[in-house]
Amino acid sequence: MADSKAKILVVFYSRDGSVEALAKAVGEGAREAGAEMRLRRVPDLVSPTVMANVPGWEERSKRMLAEYGAPTPADAEWADGIIFGTPTRFGNTSAELKAFIDSLGGLWFQGKLNGKAAGVITSTGGPHGGNETTLLSLYIPMAHLGFIIVPNGYTHAKLFEGHGTPYGSSSTSGQNSARPTADELEVAKHQGARVTQVAAALKAAGR
Ligand SMILES: Cc1cc2nc3c(=O)[nH]c(=O)nc-3n(C[C@H](O)[C@H](O)[C@H](O)COP(=O)(O)O)c2cc1C
Repeated sequence: MADSKAKILVVFYSRDGSVEALAKAVGEGAREAGAEMRLRRVPDLVSPTVMANVPGWEERSKRMLAEYGAPTPADAEWADGIIFGTPTRFGNTSAELKAFIDSLGGLWFQGKLNGKAAGVITSTGGPHGGNETTLLSLYIPMAHLGFIIVPNGYTHAKLFEGHGTPYGSSSTSGQNSARPTADELEVAKHQGARVTQVAAALKAAGR
């Protein structure tokens, strides 16, 4: 009998730890919903000089790469559903996460991502710093790659209270890189479960 357990890949970029925390919550939600889950952190692209500009960036990068490993297209092929996480960079996706998405061209050409579920998460410095534009910018390559995009909508009470967005989970870190709040993490966990449920249903339907 085919394995009915949904396989979920959570792939993210993070330098200060906010998206990492959201990604972990998403992964936890996925696991609790019955998924087999892989958590991966994409490598840095900016120069070591830029990474050395902010205390903690280099150390956290090394720690996250050692802890989660870097994603490969094989991880994307393995997954029934993928949640993509990025910090907001000038109102948009980080170059680091985009580089991973751009590495999926071979799978795209073979139609191997068609019908997999996808969700997106982000963190911004400011509440109006572009969280929604970043999340929506990720929807564009998701559509090209053939994913079934799974938005949050207003499927959890915390979304009505303004935590996260209908497009995907988010956090606001402010000027001191504050970690996501319990409410923001709850929405992220919910998103992980929701994408898992859709991924499992699509898998059961033969995708
Ligand atoms: C180069 C750069 C560009 C950024 N652009 C924005 C932005 O457009 N809007 C915003 O609110 N925050 C911006 N930020 C702040 C980060 O998005 C924010 O601190 C986020 O919480 C970091 O996530 P992380 O902790 O996972 O690294 C930027 C940070 C950097 C380094």
